[in-house]
Order: sequence, then C-alpha cells, then structure tokens
Amino acid sequence: MDLSFVICSLFLVSALHGSYSQDVRCGLLVQLQSNNQQYNRTYVTDVAAVHSISVHRQLSYAPCTHGQTFGSRGASIYVDKGCGAVFSLCYIDGDLKTGECRSYVQPQTCRYSSKDKIVSVEILRPLSQIPCVHNKNLFVSGPFLTVHRGCAAEFLVGVDS
Ligand SMILES: *[C@@H]1O[C@H](CO)[C@@H](O)[C@H](O)[C@H]1NC(C)=O
Repeated sequence: MDLSFVICSLFLVSALHGSYSQDVRCGLLVQLQSNNQQYNRTYVTDVAAVHSISVHRQLSYAPCTHGQTFGSRGASIYVDKGCGAVFSLCYIDGDLKTGECRSYVQPQTCRYSSKDKIVSVEILRPLSQIPCVHNKNLFVSGPFLTVHRGCAAEFLVGVDS
C-alpha cells in the first residue's frame, strides 16, 4: 500500500470524529483475521464511519493490540501481524461515495450526495503533489467537502443516511 495514502487517511479520518455522537450505534460484530501475518483491511457494509472498535472474541494466538495489530480508519477496519477476532464496532450508518475534488487557484466545493452529511473522508488517489491535510487545505461542513490551495484527490467519502 502507498504510504502517502496511509498517512493522509490517518490525518483526515480522525479529525471527523466527535461531532456526530447522536448518530453512533454500537454492537455490530465483524470478523476479521490476519492470515500469514498479513495486513488485512475491509470496509463494512452500510457503515459510513467506524467510530470505535474493540475485541469481542479473540480467535488468534497472536495478540490483538488496539492501534498496533487492529484498529479502524474511516469506514474501514484492519488487522495485522496475525491478529484475528470478532470485533465489536460503534459506527455511523450510511454509504460510501467516491469522486474527485480538485482545487487549483480557487477553492472548490464538492458534494457527494444530495442531503446527507459527510462523516468520514479518505484519499483514494492523490491528484496533486500537494498533500491534502484536514483543516489546512481540506474542510468538511455538513454535506460539503471543500479543497483549497492545490489539494486535489479522488476521495472516498462516508455519508450519513
Ligand atoms: C481477511 O479477513 C477475512 C475475514 O476473516 C478472511 O476471510 C481473509 O482470508 C483475510 N485475508 C487475509 C489476507 O488475511
């Protein structure tokens, strides 16, 4: 996996937590395992953002350590280094949409669905040399994603339904 993708995703996604607590549901169980010590990441059906993740039942001998061998990022969850478990998620219901949003000199505002609000943002593919950094040249407000000063990317956006 492209390192810039990982780094950008970490910045972007974490910043959106906090203001949507009224929409968070808990108790969704999802199984994920890291076979042959491999990194394994998945999106979860009908989940627009994963708010938190914990081990419900561990299946592996290898330890599952939050933030190291398992965790969440945006609408996805991951395991690594042999961790396997049934995980319990707190999450926000919704859909994932993809689309480009590019700024050149002028800022650009993009909308990914007609009425919903954006609850997670991830960079799928950078389209400029300038990194997009949340609250620096990338802003989310309700259903709008706004990019400034050269931030340009194909985004994966989770929208609350
Ligand atoms: C990822 O996890 C799923 C669900 O447990 C499993 O079916 C799949 O084989 C795993 N892939 C890797 C590369 O570990």
